[in-house]
Amino acid sequence: MKILVTGGAGYIGSTTAKALEEAGHTPVILDSLLSGPRAFVRDRIFYEGDIADRPLLRQIVAEHPDIDATIHMAARIVVPESMEQPYVYYRDNVAKSLELFDELVALGKPRVLFSSSASLYAFTEAFVVREEDALDPTSPYARTKRMMEQVLEDMARATELRAVILRYFNPIGSDPDLESGVYVREPSHVLGQLVLAATGLKDEFTITGTNHPTRDGTGLRDYIHVWDLAQAHVRAVERFDEVLNAVHAPSVVINIGTGEGVTVRELVSSFERVFGATVPVSEAPPRPGDAVGAYANADKAAGLLGWKANLTLDDGIASALAWSKRRHEVLGE
Ligand SMILES: NC(=O)c1ccc[n+]([C@@H]2O[C@H](COP(=O)([O-])OP(=O)(O)OC[C@H]3O[C@@H](n4cnc5c(N)ncnc54)[C@H](O)[C@@H]3O)[C@@H](O)[C@H]2O)c1
Repeated sequence: MKILVTGGAGYIGSTTAKALEEAGHTPVILDSLLSGPRAFVRDRIFYEGDIADRPLLRQIVAEHPDIDATIHMAARIVVPESMEQPYVYYRDNVAKSLELFDELVALGKPRVLFSSSASLYAFTEAFVVREEDALDPTSPYARTKRMMEQVLEDMARATELRAVILRYFNPIGSDPDLESGVYVREPSHVLGQLVLAATGLKDEFTITGTNHPTRDGTGLRDYIHVWDLAQAHVRAVERFDEVLNAVHAPSVVINIGTGEGVTVRELVSSFERVFGATVPVSEAPPRPGDAVGAYANADKAAGLLGWKANLTLDDGIASALAWSKRRHEVLGE
């Protein structure tokens, strides 16, 4: 199959492009390089441009009339930045995606897989979330994701568009050959901060929030290896029509997580075990907007996609550590 991957120069997009290739498919990348590095495009079919550039979309489809589906990953993704610059987030994530979807329908390319996020879920004392559970997106970034889910659901009802919406939990690690990974120099997510502290690029790792209603007071996440996440996309494009037929609907939402919740303290101890040394740790109050967290009920992914996560938390940690050693080489920094 030939798959248009918007945001294919990004962390998850480039890993998914590789997984598609390994499964015998051909990714066609559309990315503006707003944040993704050119090095992650490698030798793939690549169009440098914006998702809302309709003439460019027409050119891509004219040059690749055999595109079977689009994986729409291109987005701005930094939560604090979305609080400071809501306009650019709503413009880029919502308004530009609308142009993309409308043009894809006009071009007769109605299958869309959309990258949504577990950050949409409302807090629940059970911590485990199913797709139909209550939502409460707390940042402009998360609200753009929810709006796009609603846009897709409405367009799927009214037009030829068909949507498979994947709600990702917390991706970690790199692809097996360490060709792509988290490319920002100072990642803000927990594992990235741990790697910085372990490799001496930061003095210590700070646990932000120790009074959450979790088993040890620290935030809880469902860490999914990015290679497993990439495989979920391969399954979703391969089974696209089958999945929607099975649910008798023009769109569907599917959690993509491991089904296991891990607290920050648990992550630190796993990290120290894999790393083979302790990491200096301090504690601080939660940052504004920090979520307590949740983990996925991943039954729907198993049933509809025949997919479940295979790699362990330790695999993800080892992969992130290995990538941190190779990162500068791949990025040419
Ligand atoms: N990383 C996570 O923890 C996480 C969790 C849940 C969901 N997601 C979603 O997954 C997707 C991929 O995330 P990522 O971590 O790989 O992010 P990323 O920033 O590495 O990748 C996004 C890519 O989109 C490109 N892009 C942005 N705006 C564009 C535009 N208007 N036109 C063309 N290209 C554009 C960027 O250059 C970048 O390469 C995003 O939609 C994100 O919201 C990510």
